[in-house]
Amino acid sequence: MTTLDLTPDTATDAGAGTAIPGPATPYQDDIARYWDQEARPVNLRLGDVDGLYHHHYGIGDVDVAALGAPGDSEREKKVITELHRLESAQADVLLDHLGDVPRDGMLVDAGCGRGGSMVMAHQRFGCRVEGVTLSAKQADFANQRVRQLGIDAYVRSQVCNMLDMPFETGQAAASWNNESSMYVDLHDLFAEHSRVLSVGGRYVTITGCWNPVYGQPSKWVSQINAHFECNIHSRREYLRAMADNRLVPQAVIDLTAATLPYWELRATSSLVTGIEEAFLNSYRDGSFQYLLIAADRV
Ligand SMILES: C[S@@+](CC[C@H](N)C(=O)[O-])C[C@H]1O[C@@H](n2cnc3c(N)ncnc32)[C@H](O)[C@@H]1O
Repeated sequence: MTTLDLTPDTATDAGAGTAIPGPATPYQDDIARYWDQEARPVNLRLGDVDGLYHHHYGIGDVDVAALGAPGDSEREKKVITELHRLESAQADVLLDHLGDVPRDGMLVDAGCGRGGSMVMAHQRFGCRVEGVTLSAKQADFANQRVRQLGIDAYVRSQVCNMLDMPFETGQAAASWNNESSMYVDLHDLFAEHSRVLSVGGRYVTITGCWNPVYGQPSKWVSQINAHFECNIHSRREYLRAMADNRLVPQAVIDLTAATLPYWELRATSSLVTGIEEAFLNSYRDGSFQYLLIAADRV
């Protein structure tokens, strides 16, 4: 499979018929620009493996046998395939926590990137999946991909601020943020998820967060913030903002140990982006955690 043609199309907000709120602040304009320009090989070459394009990290043990012997002429390709497998495994774990989603239910992917998790969600549940991203390039890419797959009647990306989503109150059976909650105020974010979710609906996030036990954000966490132009929240802030917005944690899972093998492998590949050391050091010194939180909307 080859990288998709990114020619812009007009389907970004197809069928909406109403003005959709785009970036609401100069900061959100910056983030939209960042993701419009983002074309790191580490994201695109991994997505090319099977057409699921992710902008998140991986979890699980590395299959050492799948990498071939040291010096294997195909090693780089095998490392890419393995990193991609771990990233899809991460999305699978998120989907595992959505609960039973009926085929006529609707799912919301807030900060959907190039749409890999949305495609996986539709393939698993057979239902409608709505994604929002600040980036028109990402939305076009995701919409083009689902057209190629013939599932565009079910899966759609829109350019939209996830703090002001174009969905009716109580409409969603479940919603999630996969590594996208560090771009917004958590109270505003969870108030909006709480609004679009039905009572009894499930919210799931997988995110990096700083560990209050460490004290304050470490220098590594500050480096990650600067690299991605984001604002990593603490574990405490997540739980507090959920409690304030009718989201009651049903599971809090520390995925830090499960993501380390991914980072160790990624640091050895030719696709390094320079931020690997900050992730490895902050996970190892306990200042940063990779967390899944699943919460019920009550
Ligand atoms: C690290 S990427 C994650 C993409 C995707 N969830 C995945 O797992 O591949 C962060 C995403 O958050 C989106 N984002 C950040 N702030 C947003 C906002 N206020 N509204 C909508 N999307 C936002 C970006 O446009 C980008 O798509």
